[in-house]
Amino acid sequence: MTDTRNQVVVVTGASGGIGRAVARAFGARHARVALLARGEKGLKAAADDIRAAGGTALALPTDVADVEQVDAAADRVEEELGPIDVWVNVAFTSVFARFADIRPEEFRRVTEVSYLGYVYGTMAALDRMKPRDHGTVVQVGSALAYRGIPLQTAYCGAKHAVQGFHESLRCELLSERSKVRVTMVQMPAVNTPQFSWVLSRLPHHAQPVPPIYQPEVAARAVLYAADHPRRREYWVGGSTVGTLIANAVAPGVLDRYLADTGLRSQQTAHPKPADQPANLWHPADGPRGHDFGAHGEFDAKSSPRSLQLWASQHHGLLAAGGSALAATALALWRRTRS
Ligand SMILES: NC(=O)c1ccc[n+]([C@@H]2O[C@H](COP(=O)([O-])OP(=O)(O)OC[C@H]3O[C@@H](n4cnc5c(N)ncnc54)[C@H](OP(=O)(O)O)[C@@H]3O)[C@@H](O)[C@H]2O)c1
Repeated sequence: MTDTRNQVVVVTGASGGIGRAVARAFGARHARVALLARGEKGLKAAADDIRAAGGTALALPTDVADVEQVDAAADRVEEELGPIDVWVNVAFTSVFARFADIRPEEFRRVTEVSYLGYVYGTMAALDRMKPRDHGTVVQVGSALAYRGIPLQTAYCGAKHAVQGFHESLRCELLSERSKVRVTMVQMPAVNTPQFSWVLSRLPHHAQPVPPIYQPEVAARAVLYAADHPRRREYWVGGSTVGTLIANAVAPGVLDRYLADTGLRSQQTAHPKPADQPANLWHPADGPRGHDFGAHGEFDAKSSPRSLQLWASQHHGLLAAGGSALAATALALWRRTRS
C-alpha cells in the first residue's frame, strides 16, 4: 500500500476547475502540491485552499505551451518540495465555435496548450521519474478523446491526440518494464469555469452537456487513478461509458445525432455576456479579474457523486457480491427442486 502522505504532486491547470479540485484533494491528504497555471489570483487562492486542507503548496506561474517554462517549473518543484511522485496534466483551453469561425493561430494555440502542454508536462515528469524508476503520470482526458462533437474541433483534435500519445507511451514503458506508470482518466461533463472563460463565438452562453458532475467527482477519480495507475484508463460517469460504447458500435449514428442536437445542447437559453473574458492567450483572472475557483455556474444542475465511478473502483467487491448472489440463487433453486 502506497503511503500517500507527503507525496510530491504536480498539477497543471491548478488555478481553476478540475485541476483546482484535484490539487485541493491531494492537499487534504497532506501532499506537497505544486500548482502550475498562469492566473496569479487563481494560483494564490488554490495555494490557500491546499494549506487550509492540510497540505503544502508551491504556486508556480507557468504557461504549459512553453516547454522551457514547464521544465523550469519541474526543476523548482524538485528543489523546493523533493522528487516528484505524481504529475497530473489537466491544463487546457479551447475555442467554442464552428470550425469555419476559428482562426489558424487560435487552432494552433489550443493545440499547443491542450495537446503539447500534456506532452511537455509528461516529458518533464519522465525525465525525472525514469532514472529513479518511480512515479506516475495521470492524463486528464475526456469522453471527447474518442468522440468528436460540433463546435469543439480544436479541443476534440487535441484530446484525441493526447489519447494516441498516451497509448504509444504506455506501450513503450511496458516494453521497457518500467515502474513508471501512465494512466488516463476520461471525464464526463463537469461544472467548471471553462464555460465562462473559454473563448466563445457562440451566440448563447456555453454549457456542459448534461448529465453534469461536480469537479470533486473528477478529483476523486484522478486520485484513485494516481493510486492505482496500472489500469490503462478510467471512465468517469455513466454518460462517458454510454458515449464510448455507442461510438465504438455505431459512430455514424452518433454523427447524425450530434448534428441534430450538439449545437443546441452546448448552449443555454441566455445570450453570451458581452464582457465574458477569454483565456486563450492570457489568464482570465488578470489585473481586473477575480478568482474563478473550482466550480462553474451550474451547481444547481450538477451531481456531487457518480455511482458508475464507485462501481469502476470496486470491481472486486461487485464481483464478490455478484458471486454471492448467484450462489444464493443457485442454492434456493436447488432447494425448490429437491
Ligand atoms: N469541464 C468539463 O466538462 C470537462 C469534460 C471532460 C474533460 N475535461 C478535461 O478536464 C481538464 C480541465 O478542464 P476544466 O473544465 O477544469 O477547465 P477550466 O475550468 O477551463 O480550467 C483550465 C485550467 O487550465 C489552466 N490553463 C489554461 N491555459 C493554460 C496555459 N496556457 N498554461 C497553463 N495553464 C493553463 C487554467 O488556468 P490559467 O488560465 O490560470 O492558466 C485553469 O487552471 C481539461 O483537460 C479538460 O479536457 C473537462
